[in-house]
Formats: sequence, C-alpha cells, structure tokens
Amino acid sequence: MKKIIAAGALAFGLFTFTGVRAAQPNPDVEKILAKLSLDEKIGQMVQLDLMKVTVPNSSPIQLDEKKLREAVVTHGVGSFINNGLGRALSVAEWTYVNKTIQDIIRAETPNKIPLLYGIDSIHGATFVLDSTLFPQPIAMAATRNPELVRRASEISAAETRAAGLRWTFAPVLDVGRQALWARFPETFGEDPYLASVLGAESVRGFEGQNLGAPTSVAACMKHYLGYSFPLTGKDRSPALMPDWYLREYFLPPFRAAVKAGVKTVMVNSGEVNGVPVHGSKYLLTDLLRGELGFDGVIVSDWEDIIRLHTWQKVAETPADAVRMAVEAGLDISMVPLDYSFGILLKQLVADGKVSEQRIDESVRRILQLKMDVGLFKNPYVEPETAGQFGKPEYRQTALTAAEEAITLLKNEKATLPLAKSAKILVTGPAAKRISALHGCWSFTWQGLEEKWYPKGSLSIAEALKQKLGDASVAVHQGVDFDGKNVDVDAAVAAAVQADAIILCLGEDAYAETPGDINDFNLPAGQQDFAKRLEATGKPVVLVLVEGRGRIVREIEPRAKAIVIAYWPGSGGAQALANVLFGDTNPSGKLPFTYARHANNLLTYDRKFTSAVAEISAPGDTQINPAKPQWEFGHGLSYTTFEVKNLKLSAPVLKGNKDRLAVNVDVSNTGQRAGKEVVELYTSDLYASLTPPSKRLRAFTKIELQPGETRAVQFELSAADLAFVNGASKLVTEPGEFEVLVAGLKAKFRYEE
Ligand code: BGC
Repeated sequence: MKKIIAAGALAFGLFTFTGVRAAQPNPDVEKILAKLSLDEKIGQMVQLDLMKVTVPNSSPIQLDEKKLREAVVTHGVGSFINNGLGRALSVAEWTYVNKTIQDIIRAETPNKIPLLYGIDSIHGATFVLDSTLFPQPIAMAATRNPELVRRASEISAAETRAAGLRWTFAPVLDVGRQALWARFPETFGEDPYLASVLGAESVRGFEGQNLGAPTSVAACMKHYLGYSFPLTGKDRSPALMPDWYLREYFLPPFRAAVKAGVKTVMVNSGEVNGVPVHGSKYLLTDLLRGELGFDGVIVSDWEDIIRLHTWQKVAETPADAVRMAVEAGLDISMVPLDYSFGILLKQLVADGKVSEQRIDESVRRILQLKMDVGLFKNPYVEPETAGQFGKPEYRQTALTAAEEAITLLKNEKATLPLAKSAKILVTGPAAKRISALHGCWSFTWQGLEEKWYPKGSLSIAEALKQKLGDASVAVHQGVDFDGKNVDVDAAVAAAVQADAIILCLGEDAYAETPGDINDFNLPAGQQDFAKRLEATGKPVVLVLVEGRGRIVREIEPRAKAIVIAYWPGSGGAQALANVLFGDTNPSGKLPFTYARHANNLLTYDRKFTSAVAEISAPGDTQINPAKPQWEFGHGLSYTTFEVKNLKLSAPVLKGNKDRLAVNVDVSNTGQRAGKEVVELYTSDLYASLTPPSKRLRAFTKIELQPGETRAVQFELSAADLAFVNGASKLVTEPGEFEVLVAGLKAKFRYEE
C-alpha cells in the first residue's frame, strides 16, 4: 500500500488534512467556502430523507414547509434522498418539490447553496413515475453489450434529471460472487473484468461528456468495498477476506469507475475483516483516495455512521461514531432521519476532536459537485429537460436490452421457438406479476406495489396474448412464489388441453435484507407444481424470472426448454414473447455460474482444488465433480456458431509494451442471423498464488448472417494477465500462459 505522509507534503500546500493529494483548488469554490459559517459547512455534509419534510400520505405530494425550514434553514441541510417515502413521484410532483426547496433556500439562507438531490436510479429513474425501467444490472450483464449498458444509463440519467434530480446512487459495482446475497441482481455478475467494463460504461452513460448538460447526472459507484461477499450470504453481514483477495476480485470495478471519472462513491454498510468500512481510513482514504486517486464525494449508506455505535459496536458513543467516520474520510452522512450527525459533528469541533480544516475538505468536494452538476447556474428543473422524459425511443431501448439479456439455457430438440399457431398454457407465479419482471428499486424500494407501475405495463401472460391472440392462451397462476396452491388442479387440466406449457417460476421483487433467504432451492411448492405439469407429457418451457439462480436441478431434466429472463424490466414481457416465438433470436450469456446444488456455490474462475476429488483411493482423481447446472458464459441461440483457427501473433509476449494478437474466425453455421459473444480467457499455468483455472480477459459481441464468417482479433498485454499477489501487488509473473477461446487453446510465454 502506498502511503502519503501528510507532514512533509503539507509544506507544498497540495496535500489535505487526511494526507492525500487534493485536486487543484477551484477559486469559485474557495470563494463560497470562505463565506460559510461552521454551521453551514456542517449542514452541507448532512443528507436527509424527503419523508422528514413531507405531509404524511399526501397525494399529490405536499411538503410541510415548517419542517422543511427546520431542515434547510435551521440546519442548513445540503442534500436529500428518497427511500423512506414508499413511492415514486410524477415529474410534476418532483418539479414542485424541487422548486419549493430551492425557493426557500434562495430566500431564507445566507449563502443560498442549492440543495443536491440523490436518488437510486439503479435500472432507470426508479422514483419517477412512468420512467423507463431497464433490465436489472445482472440482466444487463447477460447482454455482454457495453454500448447498451451505456445507452441505458444515458436514458436513466436524462429521465432522472428531467425530474430535477442530479445525482444517482448507481452503478452498483459490487461483484456478485456470493450467489445467495439479496443484492446479487443489482450486480453485473461474478466476474470482476465484466463488472469493470460494464460499470465504467455505466458511469460514462450517467455523467456524459459534461455533467452540466441537462441530460447528465453525477454517478455514485457503490458500495465500496467488499459488500457483496458476506460469509453467510445475508445482507450487511460480515465479510472476511485477505487484502489481496479484496483487491483481486472486488476492487477492479471501482478502479475502472474512478478512471472513467466517477464523481461520487457510497460506502459498504458491512464490515470487512472485522472493520466496518464506514470507519476504515485504510479503505476510504489510503486506498480509495491515495492509491486509486479518487477525489470526489464519499457518501455513507443509510444510517451507517450511527450504526458504528448501535450495530457494529466499534464506537462507544454516537459522537465516537461520527468522529470515526469523518476521520476515515467520509464527506456526506446519509443520516437520514434526524439531525444528530450535524449536532455531534459541531460538538466534536468545539471539543477539538475534529478540525474545521477537515470539514472544509469535505465541503470543498461537495460544493465542487454541486457546481459540476450545474446547480449554481440553475437549481430548478431545467426547461431543456422537458422533452427528455418518456421518449418512445427509450422504451425501444429497454425492449432491446431485455431481448439481448434473456438467456436460452436449454432447448431440447429445438422446442423453441414455438409455432405461433400453438395453443399454450401460461402459468406459474410470475405469469401475471409485473413486479417480478422489474425487481427491486422499481417505483418503490421493494418494487412490489404494482399500483405504481405505468399503465399498460405488460405481464408475461398479457404479452403472449398480444402475440398469439386471446383464444390461444390459457392463463392459470397455479402456485404463488412461496409455492402455495392457488389453482394447481385447474392449471394441470388446462395443460392437458394445450400444445405447450410456458411455466414462469422464480422470485418476486425484493431489495436488501427483505430478500435474505435461508434456502437457495426454488421453493418446493414451485418445483412440485413443475413436476405435475411435466407429468402431463406436454412440452414444458420453463421461464425463470429471478434475481438469483435458484436451484432447479430436479425439474430441469424434464423441461424441454429453459430460458432465464432475470428481472428484465419494462420491455421484459414483450421481449420474452419475442424470444419464445422466434421473433428474436436470443443472445444472452449467463453472467454467473448457475449452481446445481445449494451447498455447492462456485464461480467459473474456481481453482483446480475447488473442483478436484480423490474418489475412492489416493490418485483416483476426478476433475470437476462440482458440475454446475450451467456455466458462466452459457447461452444458446436459434442458430449455431463455430469458432476456428485460433492463432497467436507470437509465441512470446515480452515486457510491458508488447502486444500479443489473438485471432479466431467465427462462423454462423445455422439457418438464421444471430448475435454471438466471443470470450477470451487466459490461464496462468503456474503462479505464486494458486492460479484460478481461467480468467475472462476480453470479450466482444458480433452479429452474423447465416453462412457468414468474421475474423475476430483480441490484443493482450502484460497488464491483461496481471493478478494481485500475496503482498497485495498487481503483478504479471513470467511463465507459461494459455489462451482459451470457445474450447480452442494455445500457449505462449510471458517474459519480463
Ligand atoms: C441502500 C443503498 C441506497 C440507499 C438510499 C440503502 O438502504 O443500501 O444502496 O442507495 O439505501 O436509498
């Protein structure tokens, strides 16, 4: 770890109180900062939930101006969020909220610092009614299409800003390597490289070329760092991992986002190696600012500073909790339901435990952010945003994204696509549920209340009726998500009359701890229902609508075809209908390893010893006994592809500047046009830490007409082969490597 010593550095005036290099001072920011009182500065570090200042249950939303004045005038609160309110607001309501707040600040506060609103636009403008909701990040990762990820973020930014909101708490850059975790669907999957590529594109999409533009919002990479790997799989429970492991598997997307210019970061609510991240100067300052060079705003997660005292128990008093977080490097506290943070921080300054210079550091960053997003120019909903909301083109992009995400896992005897003349039964708990197509952060936190979804949102059953006509589609729910009987007998009777059964199983929406589970198997009642339908002898097409890969081992063998739709968003039902009936050729690829057994959760980059067993006697070795249900990267098409002629430009890659070209020819050998993802993996054959069997290092997605062949070239440099060694250093060790592309292999040597 590179440590910068504050004392020597201070002499040059370029280093900050916490000892890291500061950005060049901005004279405009300094001018404002110089005018602010300590109270005003502290207020800038406070974030409240909107529910603190609204008239309870008002509709349309009403602000309680007395409470609002207490927040923004008395306490000088600098930022708001919306999570506790329990519903989304229309653009008109947001316009009113924004205007009322900024008007009071302008009229009644000494320095008129505009308020910055942060909001969870995880897969679209979550808390804006009628916004476009894209597939969840796990599904966006299945598209393997960085451009589409960027476009979805651009649209989310435009719709968020059209409501006067200029800061989104997205993208989620936690790498999804704990399959049980309730926030798995918010991740870009299990691979750090894939998450880095897509995460950086998402940041570019949100922030655009110019944050001041009326289509951009400041992004917030989250939840830094190590949040997605709780030992128990339960949200916000402890993670334990060596430093090299944290850096190898969880740091890369954050590093990539910093390089892409991300303006803000949110902190992991949990602990890593016994240290709550909100109190970790090592992670928040030394690593994030010192090594990664991040100079933006660090915001806490919900109530997480006080929880250093109440939950994590590393701070003996609430004041200690505040001191600890501020010392660690935090800038804004998402308090968000009281004024304790500001009051305690002021007392800490009075007691000489926190210096005013330290507070200045944070306020500088906050003011800079407010300036970057154009709040000092115009804090209101900008007139230019009027045409930026709800464009038909956005819906089309959401549909395309869902079509590219949906992943065909199994297709026995070309069961799919089904003929449009077929009579079908659509059944299962997800058949009629719109919330299950959208998942978490969909108009509400949990996404479960369908009354907030836009009129005309389609369920799977409705989309199939639109495609085939009402007369061809029978609909019975069968069971609910817990597996309880709703109308199983009627569904089975209807199955007998149908040509095919579209069985929609999986998970309804959930977010965070309410999504914690004690059993990874798909609920028994859902599986029993599948078995009854399979017993009819009618072809079962299993559609998995879920945020995580729940275990389906027992029902998989008799299903004729299986697709996973993930939580595919606004366009999901139509996209699914297009895939099932052949109007779209599926091209999604699993962004995680789909487990076969609940007690055997693996990732694709497992090590030799994670998948080797001595079966009966020493030496009687079986490799890969831990066969997952489906591997990372798996995904079928209605056409077939062949990859041939793997060639390397040289047998040796030398030093840091050298490049190795890897060439393959990819052909569409089937009857219809299709998109294929070509993935390049490398294996480091021998290394100072036990090497994973392979690592994804590059990928591309191409479209080929039937009979078409395309040459694909990748380039590798030493940096692409690097890993974090036991001393926490990113290194490329000399030695033999293997390149793997679609089952083809070639070896080369790396020399320093
Ligand atoms: C979540 C964050 C989110 C915040 C504000 C927290 O509960 O962990 O991801 O950004 O709420 O809504």
